[in-house]
Amino acid sequence: MLLGKGLERIYRKMTGYSVKKIFTSYNNFVYLVEKEGVEYILKESTKDANALNEWKEKLPVPKIIEKTDKYLVLEKLSGETLKGRLTEKTAREFGKYVGMIHAKEKTRRGELLSHPKQFWKEELHDLIGYCHGDLSLMNFLAENETVTGILDWEFAGEGEIIKDTFHSVKTFFEKWKFKEEIAEEHNKYLRLPDNWKKVAIVQQWLSMKKNLSKIDRLQWKELNEEQTRERKEQVRIEWTENLSKLEELYKTI
Ligand SMILES: Nc1ncnc2c1ncn2[C@@H]1O[C@H](COP(=O)(O)OP(=O)(O)O)[C@@H](O)[C@H]1O
Ligand SMILES: [Mg+2]
Repeated sequence: MLLGKGLERIYRKMTGYSVKKIFTSYNNFVYLVEKEGVEYILKESTKDANALNEWKEKLPVPKIIEKTDKYLVLEKLSGETLKGRLTEKTAREFGKYVGMIHAKEKTRRGELLSHPKQFWKEELHDLIGYCHGDLSLMNFLAENETVTGILDWEFAGEGEIIKDTFHSVKTFFEKWKFKEEIAEEHNKYLRLPDNWKKVAIVQQWLSMKKNLSKIDRLQWKELNEEQTRERKEQVRIEWTENLSKLEELYKTI
């Protein structure tokens, strides 16, 4: 999708970059932009900045080129998103990187919990820790079966590590095909609780159920009213089927 010429001029004046493409994404406006012959990514949000700084030496994350109070300009990493292209090799890399992320606060996992009661600290100790917050395969870039980018850190912070590893509205089943490989690599950095399969399915089911109940509020930036109605109907059918698939999966574990 491209901006209209007028909007593009305004944008260029505001940021100094010319806009080449908008990535259709649910959360933020993200543009491929250009300045003096070099391509960058411009994201209309600054929430990724803290985590990008924290991880810049340890993980393949984009460098911050420029930060204002409204947007970030990021290094454009090579590769394409992993959605629809996961293989055993990239699934293993995915598991490794997710394990490294979750192991970050390993020694302080108990303390990380904002819950003050000791009882909850003990009950939740193995489930809660530092998380990326949006580990959809759309947020991983890969090239020649090698991960080249881990993106979209705006939700990083305390969270549920099993959910962080497997949950994804669009890419859960694709990851699930390689669940054993993902878990094996993850466990080299941080051991997932023994019941991870059941927990992952239940969490995905609960989240899909919640999404289904809020379907009327969904909106897509690029769709008109009629198209939105059609898309909602498709999504409703797809998510309802997914709930049944998850129930079947659960029975096999
Ligand atoms: N640094 C980057 N290098 C290359 N592509 C990127 C980069 N940042 C974002 N993208 C592309 O833009 C899409 C949306 O960016 P993302 O940070 O995930 O925003 P959102 O929060 O809207 O999902 C990504 O899925 C990816 O295709
Ligand atoms: Mg994203």
